[in-house]
Parts: sequence; C-alpha cells; structure tokens
Amino acid sequence: MIILDTPIDMHLHLREGKMLKDVLPYTANQFAAAVVMPNLVPPVDNRERLESYKNEILQNCENFTPLMNIFMREYSEDELLDLADEIFAIKLYPAGITTNSEAGVKSIEKIYPVLEIMQELNIPLSVHGETNGFVLDREREFAAVYEKLARDFPNLKIIMEHISTYNLVELVDKYDNLYATITLHHLLLTLDDLIGSNLNPHNFCKPVVKTPKDRDALQKIVRSGHKKVMFGSDSAPHSIKNKLKGAAGVFSAPVILPALAEFFEGDNEAFQKFISSNAIDNFNLQIPKKEEILIEEEYIAPMMVGEVKPMFAGKRFSYRVKNS
Ligand code: DOR
Ligand code: ZN
Repeated sequence: MIILDTPIDMHLHLREGKMLKDVLPYTANQFAAAVVMPNLVPPVDNRERLESYKNEILQNCENFTPLMNIFMREYSEDELLDLADEIFAIKLYPAGITTNSEAGVKSIEKIYPVLEIMQELNIPLSVHGETNGFVLDREREFAAVYEKLARDFPNLKIIMEHISTYNLVELVDKYDNLYATITLHHLLLTLDDLIGSNLNPHNFCKPVVKTPKDRDALQKIVRSGHKKVMFGSDSAPHSIKNKLKGAAGVFSAPVILPALAEFFEGDNEAFQKFISSNAIDNFNLQIPKKEEILIEEEYIAPMMVGEVKPMFAGKRFSYRVKNS
C-alpha cells in the first residue's frame, strides 16, 4: 500500500463543457489540486473568463482545488494587481507553437514590462518552451530563452513546463529561479512509442517525446527527488476524431498514479516529493490535505473516456487508487 499526501498535478488541461465533465473526475478523484491551463478558445486572459472557468470546474467536482493560470498577453499593472490573488501563474505560449496558442506571445521583449510586474507581485511564470525550429531541436533551442529570462528576472520564479530533453534537465541546477515540471509520457515514452512501429497518434504531444537518452535523464532526476522538479501531467484530452486529424496531446489522467507507483518501485519518499511536497515547498501552496491510497490490486486503464482514448488504454497495472 502507498499513501500519498495531497497529490498535486502542476499542469493540466480540462477543456470546457462535456469534455470537462468527462475528464475532470479522473483528476479530481485522485489529486488534491491541479494547475489548470488557460489555452481555451478564446483564451482565459481576463477576470470574467477566469471566474466563469473556475466556477465551471468547481461545479463539476468536490474536495478538489483548481489553481488557475491565465494566458500571457500585455497585461497592465492594474489588471495584474486585480488578478494576482486569483491565479497561480501566467502561462507563456510562443504564438502558434501548440494547441490553441495562436494568441500567444510573438516577441518576448514586448512582455518584459509584464514580467517586471510579475516579479514584484511574486506571480510565477509558466512557459511552454519551444522554438519554431526543427521539431526535435525546438526545446533545446529554447534553452537560450530560459537562460536569458532567468538572468534578466532573478526574482521571478520560472517554470519550464513538460521538459523533454537532457539539456533542460541540466538547466534546473544552473539557475536558482528555474523550476521544471515533467509529465508521465515524457518520463516513460520515447519516439519509438510514437513512430517506432505503427504510428500511434495517441502518444503524440508537444513537445514531442524524444530519445532514450533524454528519457533516461528525466527518469534520473525524478528518481533523485530533486526539489525543483515537480509532476505536471500535461494531460491533454482530444476527441479520437481530432487525434486522427493530428491534434497534439496525451490524455494520461486515468493512469497517472498507477503508472507512477510502478515507476517508483517502492521509493515512496521520492514519489511523495515529485507528486506533492516539492510543489508545496517551491510555491508555498496552501492546499487542504487529502490522502490518496494506492493498493496492490489490478487496475485496467479504460479504453475510452467519452470521446477520448487515454494513454495506455487497456493496459494492466499492479496498483489502483482506492475509492476511485
Ligand atoms: O501536447 C500538447 N497538448 N501540448 C501542449 O502544449 C498543449 C496541449 C493541448 O492543449 O492539447
Ligand atoms: Zn500543456
């Protein structure tokens, strides 16, 4: 049996409407809290949209804390003063880099005034770190942007989201103010799982899964319990129809805790750090305590959740989450 204290998913996509109703229980029944991403259409980038989205989430769950992110744009100081208490972080998407990011940032210099205010108000910056270069080089190339941001804003907490390369693993120790989230799929999969045999669109996401060397570096830092490394699923549901049209996103919510229980192989201390304590310590999160118990019983991942096919659909795990 594994007892997890207050598990937190630091990076989650819930969508809206029926999709949200279908997918939210998988997270709300297994986690105490999650950081909810704002890449809706239109993006969550003002108070009204933020409040209505948060209410929609709260109406569909119990005993679960959504930590809201807003979409980066050129906010004024007054807007940020008004929003600061309602949000966890602001999410920077380079324009056009991933799902629903068309309204993203075209020039990082333009948002420097916003970053100044965030630094003053202690609002973390969450970043999708990819350039528009060759697909396998995008994250590595973005490292220069992370380094510049880390140097220019030494008191701004910067979260490198869903890191997928050994290069970014190395950056975590180079700057005090750089933090990282790691997903289940980047921790367990490589390009072979996407294109090594038959093309598997359900393992397609951005950033794309990478090489065994990259995956091994992610596994090593997660197993070490590194305090700046946190679990963020980037669970990103798309209907099967849209996946077959090429939509990027892996819907991992139904399998996260059973898969991580197997990954940690009994190292419950490292598991607890990755799934909760590191995030709480790094960001001083105040989340109502919630225990999740994993018991050693078979769990078979669902084949479908509404219109969405989960990661590892149909796979057998040796742990399941009690009461979910
Ligand atoms: O694979 C991804 N899916 N990466 C992202 O950055 C966005 C996400 C989504 O919203 O579907
Ligand atoms: Zn995401």
